[in-house]
Amino acid sequence: MNVRVRAVVLAAGKGTRMRSSRPKVLHDLCGRPLLWHVLRALRDAEIAEVVVVTNAEVLPHVEAIARDAGHAATYAVLQEPQLGTGHAVQIALAHLEASGKARVLVLNGDLPLVQAELIGRTLLDECALALVTARMPLPSSYGRVVREGERVARIVEAQDATGDELALDEMNAGLYSFDEPKLRNTIAELRPDNAQREYYLTDTIGALVRAGERVLPVDAGDHRSVLGVNDRVELAAAATALRRRLCEQHMRAGVTIADPATTYLEPDLELAADVTVHPNTSIGGRSRVGPHSEIGPNARLRNARIGEHAVVTDSIVVDSVLGDFVLVGPWAHVRGKSTIGTGGRIGNFVEVKKADLAAGVKAAHLSYIGDANVGERSNIGAGTITCNYDGTQKHRTTIGKDAFIGSNSSLVAPLKIGDRAATGAGTVVIRDVAQGERVVGNPARVLPEKTG
Ligand code: UD1
Ligand code: MG
Repeated sequence: MNVRVRAVVLAAGKGTRMRSSRPKVLHDLCGRPLLWHVLRALRDAEIAEVVVVTNAEVLPHVEAIARDAGHAATYAVLQEPQLGTGHAVQIALAHLEASGKARVLVLNGDLPLVQAELIGRTLLDECALALVTARMPLPSSYGRVVREGERVARIVEAQDATGDELALDEMNAGLYSFDEPKLRNTIAELRPDNAQREYYLTDTIGALVRAGERVLPVDAGDHRSVLGVNDRVELAAAATALRRRLCEQHMRAGVTIADPATTYLEPDLELAADVTVHPNTSIGGRSRVGPHSEIGPNARLRNARIGEHAVVTDSIVVDSVLGDFVLVGPWAHVRGKSTIGTGGRIGNFVEVKKADLAAGVKAAHLSYIGDANVGERSNIGAGTITCNYDGTQKHRTTIGKDAFIGSNSSLVAPLKIGDRAATGAGTVVIRDVAQGERVVGNPARVLPEKTG
């Protein structure tokens, strides 16, 4: 299509069927608000100009959601009170300067599974309106498409439908592309004389047909791609469908997913070919996983950057970086901008927070390593704790290369332990330990240098 296309996203509704204090379009679906998904589809369809019709609660969030979805030119307009989808479009049009020959794409904000391909198919310019429809199982609460012969005649909302109309299984999806001047003429004529006392956008269809205009149906194909989220049951159904879609995209790109039904991926992940994801695993935020790494079972990654040939089992990695050949788990927690260098090993019941562990560091059992730097190849014995908090402030522990920290050492920060230094089992280290020095006891005392 070579005429200008502007999109209007309807996101001002109260969403009463969600029974929530949070507005519907801000509810989470695979790690992003519902509205994000609609804006992402518009970006993928290369629709740059987007107006979001919002209420006062949604308004402050629109800019950040749009930016995260990749939309710079989105702006929000307020619909207060909300008098229906037709009223929402009236408000949007009042904010858009009229343009002689252009199309207005209107999308419900609760259509998170819609994709760019369908939006593209809707942009037909030889009609007053292209209307997306889908065959859906009955019963349903969607608006029904009433046809006369082959032609679309009007939409009837479920609340206003007769028994015969409710038996129709062709639904209005909530995605429309209008000829802008014709939409402007028609929208002004809407009246709220229906069961919900609302201005229905869907009444424009009958009005255009009666005025002799062309209204073309566009078949959505799989009805799940235009699932409208009105309550939490539909939200869960949309999440299941989107998870499936995300898993399929990664599997087609070379990722092995042992059990898509228990794999919880978010959009915008970078999973390399030959990554394996085991069951019961969630990967979200801006996570990236390198080739041949294995994640799961029972793992959760969020904003994790993971190298090649790494393994994370039964563990959590948040806001952190794991190098190549790192092993994490089972039952470990790496968080707070930590880095685990190449070949590092973080084992059972070890928590690592805001710590930088160089290549080859091992902490295999039962430790807390917080606010610390650990040099290459140092070994952190079972039960070692960095005592980083004095009740008021956090302090750092710095351990050099090739150090040996004996089991059950307490390292009372601030503290520096030199290269090749060693602590005996159960040592409480309260003062710095020099290079090569060996300390034992509580409080730690220095052992004489090894002779011979
Ligand atoms: C709507 C359609 C119905 C269609 C279905 C598809 C109308 C009248 N009905 O019904 O034919 O089958 O979507 O999912 O359009 N909104 C506003 N301002 C308002 C009211 C709603 O911005 O005053 C927004 C909502 O936030 C929502 C969208 O418009 O994102 C649709 O509203 P909703 O109440 O969900 O309509 P449905 O009953 O689903
Ligand atoms: Mg809806």
